Amino acid sequence: MDFKKNFMELSSFLKEYSVNLVDYNTEPSQFLLNLDEADYNALIHGFSLSDAGAPKSILDMESASREVSGFENVYAKAKPFANPEETGVFKNLKRRSVEESFNFAKTVIPFLGDKDFVLEVASGGGHLSRYLYHSLSGTRVAGVDKSGPAVAESMHRAHENGMDITYFLGDVMEEDIGVMLDGKRNAVVSLHGCGNVSNRILSAENADLIAVSPCCYHKIKDNDYFVSGYASSKRTEFDGGTICSVASSGIGFFLPSERNRKREEVYSSIVSNGYNISDEYTGILDAAGKKVPSPNTENIDRIVDVIHGLKKRHSLMRKLICKPAESLLSTDKAIYLQERGYDANVVEYVPVILSPRNHLVMGYR
Ligand SMILES: C[S@@+](CC[C@H](N)C(=O)[O-])C[C@H]1O[C@@H](n2cnc3c(N)ncnc32)[C@H](O)[C@@H]1O
Repeated sequence: MDFKKNFMELSSFLKEYSVNLVDYNTEPSQFLLNLDEADYNALIHGFSLSDAGAPKSILDMESASREVSGFENVYAKAKPFANPEETGVFKNLKRRSVEESFNFAKTVIPFLGDKDFVLEVASGGGHLSRYLYHSLSGTRVAGVDKSGPAVAESMHRAHENGMDITYFLGDVMEEDIGVMLDGKRNAVVSLHGCGNVSNRILSAENADLIAVSPCCYHKIKDNDYFVSGYASSKRTEFDGGTICSVASSGIGFFLPSERNRKREEVYSSIVSNGYNISDEYTGILDAAGKKVPSPNTENIDRIVDVIHGLKKRHSLMRKLICKPAESLLSTDKAIYLQERGYDANVVEYVPVILSPRNHLVMGYR
């Protein structure tokens, strides 16, 4: 897969559109400000990796893994995927966590047949490692997390399932992941490794398979977003600054609870301002051509609804460039893995509607 070509295409797209989309007075902004709720939601959920002209989305890794030359035998050795409900390893988990762990596992299992050690980094409650343990034979499984309660929970759950998985406490930003790998052929996997954790894993020594699904981009410092030598050689040609600002403002979509919170923010800002509308909101109203009467105790709810509705649409302008920005960062990770001698791939391992952070970057050798 030509990730470098994708990288430059995506960066040109972002350079061209990001400027327009964050200005209220441009035509695209006006269009978005006036979208009704249904179209707004359709747009939010519709903009995914494949639409962005990013690396081809391979949802069916079963057939994808057959396409990768040399891996047919590996795939043939993997057991058929066990029904997640029947394994019992996901007891009392939210549906979303089950789907994420199960689909992540399905994506990597075809590549684990010849590994004798798998480490789950940032293992949290250990849901992914338990499913991997259940699905693999002759492969030792371990997990590391920096949180004591998370390690305790994962140990407890493994014990409940009668599984011989080793969980240990460790901070992978401080400790060398390579020395935690004690197999002949090792794999490192991480489901939603926050911030820099995913990038850190990509540079692990002694790993024959690396698979990460990054999240929490806002925890990364600007200088650490791009990891490949290619990106640093092209730094002056693409708009890295915008990508970093989109990423740090939180690549992702507002959850319903966050939308409500924002409505409350609008409300309290007006009330605490003595029923005056702040400059920020006046700007949004002007740009959308809306006139509203001065707020008072009687009409405050209606006015807050108008302003909040416009704010939501403005946030969509940022959200529209989030997914391509995230694709660019995933592409950069894939290039970095190629630079380190891996075959690399980027896939969407769950639908975006289930989890906005749905990229899985994988390297194998
Ligand atoms: C979003 S949770 C994901 C947990 C689990 N992988 C899952 O999907 O359910 C992120 C986890 O990363 C762990 N973590 C964050 N930074 C870490 C670090 N530097 N070293 C090890 N674990 C870390 C946190 O303690 C937390 O359990």
